Amino acid sequence: MQHYSMTPSTFDQDLDMSQMELPPRPTLFDFHGVSMIKHVTENWDSVQNFKARPDDILIATYPKAGTTWVSYILDLLYFGQTSPERQASIPIHERVPFLEISTPSRPSGKDLADQLPTTPRLIKTHLPVQFVPKSFWEQNSRIIYVARNAKDSAVSYFHFNRMNIAQPEPVVFGSWYDHVNGWWEKKQTYSNLHYMFYEDLIEDCGREIDRLCSFLGLSPSAEEKERVTNGVTFDNMKANKMTNYSSVPVMNHRVSPFMRKGKVGDWKNHFTVAQDKQFEEDYKQKMKNPTLKFRTEV
Ligand code: A3P
Repeated sequence: MQHYSMTPSTFDQDLDMSQMELPPRPTLFDFHGVSMIKHVTENWDSVQNFKARPDDILIATYPKAGTTWVSYILDLLYFGQTSPERQASIPIHERVPFLEISTPSRPSGKDLADQLPTTPRLIKTHLPVQFVPKSFWEQNSRIIYVARNAKDSAVSYFHFNRMNIAQPEPVVFGSWYDHVNGWWEKKQTYSNLHYMFYEDLIEDCGREIDRLCSFLGLSPSAEEKERVTNGVTFDNMKANKMTNYSSVPVMNHRVSPFMRKGKVGDWKNHFTVAQDKQFEEDYKQKMKNPTLKFRTEV
């Protein structure tokens, strides 16, 4: 097999055996045309009835697009200076609740979002655009959508599924194509949506923070901006217990760390040339919208 690199294809590796003692992974099923698991559909009516506020900020992504990165950027921009204890003791997934998640042992994402004491409330979702609770549109809440190229998303998701037993095999939240295109189309009619790309963040995080600030109407001082930019580097987020997901029991970081590589183009270490050709052919069929363009290298 011809590889882009000499690294063996990790697609061929089996799951870590230590996971065999843990509870079984949830089953994937079709939910109104989207592959889902019970942990994101069980609380459906309650999630659909979520009461968004005009000053809420929803961070929407297909999984592995840089959700945690952008969540932390926003958290630092809004609360980095005012709440040092928040930065030191509350993990990012509690500061920015995952709206649709509902598991037996923990409060639901919807309840956590309801109880957020902050203004604005930062809320995360992986829902495709058609499933977003209608109050967000009615309240004209601001939404930030982060998209990442399909190949790196696939690689990142593959490794995440190896390390997180709350994930089914293969993937939840449906088709990447439907997700990125559905949100892209929404942007054409809903002006309070900022659509951004993981690749742009990698290329110039400072520029992307400026764009975010202009969308949000924020004007941090040069010093504040420097503090945020420095706090959200890959190495600093990987070392930070509040942002590296090290406290989440369903994740086994020995199998693959949540903060794994943080690069554009890691797909070249995983796809063979033949797989890439096949992928590109399928991509051409499925990505019909010429205005939505992704970079697989920067
Ligand atoms: P990799 O698996 O390619 O390393 P999400 O938060 O949506 O689950 O996305 C996780 C992906 O974003 C992982 O990608 C992770 O390493 C990457 N990521 C998180 N924070 C990052 C940062 N500060 N810089 C670059 N990549 C980051």
